[in-house]
Amino acid sequence: MPLIAVLPGDGIGPEVTTQARRVLEALDLGLQFEEAPVGGAAYLVSGRPLPPETLTLAKRANAVLFGAIGDPRFEALERQLRPEAALLGIRRELGLFANIRPATLFPGLESATSLKPEAVAGLDIVIVRELVGDVYFGEKGRRHNAEGLRQGYDVMSYNEAEVERIARVGFEMAKRRKKKLCSVDKANVLETSQLWRDVVNEMSTQYPEIELTHMYVDNAAMQLVRQPNAFDVIVTGNLFGDILSDQASMCAGSIGMLPSASLRAWSGDNGMYEPIHGSAPDIAGQGKANPCAAILSAAMLLRHSLSDEASAQRVEKAVAGALAKGARTADLGGSLSTTEMGDAVLRELV
Ligand code: NAD
Ligand code: IPM
Ligand code: MN
Repeated sequence: MPLIAVLPGDGIGPEVTTQARRVLEALDLGLQFEEAPVGGAAYLVSGRPLPPETLTLAKRANAVLFGAIGDPRFEALERQLRPEAALLGIRRELGLFANIRPATLFPGLESATSLKPEAVAGLDIVIVRELVGDVYFGEKGRRHNAEGLRQGYDVMSYNEAEVERIARVGFEMAKRRKKKLCSVDKANVLETSQLWRDVVNEMSTQYPEIELTHMYVDNAAMQLVRQPNAFDVIVTGNLFGDILSDQASMCAGSIGMLPSASLRAWSGDNGMYEPIHGSAPDIAGQGKANPCAAILSAAMLLRHSLSDEASAQRVEKAVAGALAKGARTADLGGSLSTTEMGDAVLRELV
């Protein structure tokens, strides 16, 4: 019986995860669920954002269903005690280097975006974000410089093996789609990015069928709102991928629509599945959050960790069906509560 670790976290994390779990339970696949605290919720009960028992559960499970972490009450804590440290810790400890963030516009949501409907209609792109390197995990700290001024630093770096393994995910993803890969970097300024670009170019000889392009991240940010459909697969580093995926979410109607999978292999692996959004303190506890990103993350869990493509598609079709019938939370211009949106998806689960 596959074991799913459920880590709801903070803010709207528990609200949206509850709906994703309901959907997984309704499929009647004999899944076993075990829940554990993470982030600020874990800090409150144990003094640590990532208790060892939570990490052990995540490692032991066939897959992790993650909500969101983050709580303004803990922003002043030292960095390793903040909720965010838990998420970064799980990614690092489980070696989840490949973060797959599909941005798909479901029919009917064209008017929910702040872009022109015709610019986003039919949107279907994937951002492949490197997840355990870059400026996130380099040496960081505070010091006083020679003039006695306070200085903060975070070192950006990638080695060639780190670039190669994430680029491979990008190439393989493109191979299964429209065969277009756009590698996003800042090679005109950053040496880390020049190495990234060199490695991606070297690998392209192994993928002659893939049309590879390179784009600077500033231009990519512009092109993503100008003509998002011109992209197929984007592969990029941790920081650029974080920013570009929030931006891409608006092309799909709302940040409440974008799921993600964090993997260390293509499939059959104990990956982690979470919406790309955070704990949304501004709407937490009000039952307003859109659970679709969490529910679609559960679909990715079925696809990538349980190799159950049929069930994954059932869930995705149920979300599409609910939206087609006009079900909308506030972020999409509607008035359904989180639970009501979950109900609407459950009704479509055939
Ligand atoms: P956020 O994604 O939490 O919220 C940004 C905006 O989007 C807010 O206005 C919020 O109300 C809205 N929003 C987000 N998810 C929504 C949903 N499902 N339905 C409707 N509206 C939604 O980003 P933030 O405000 O910058 O960060 C808040 C906290 O979350 C911080 O502590 C941050 O570190 C954390 N965070 C965690 C994750 C994660 O757990 N993966 C991701 C991003 C941010
Ligand atoms: C995300 C979040 C995280 C990140 C934070 C909360 C550490 O923004 O999952 O997109 O930057 O990766
Ligand atoms: Mn983010």
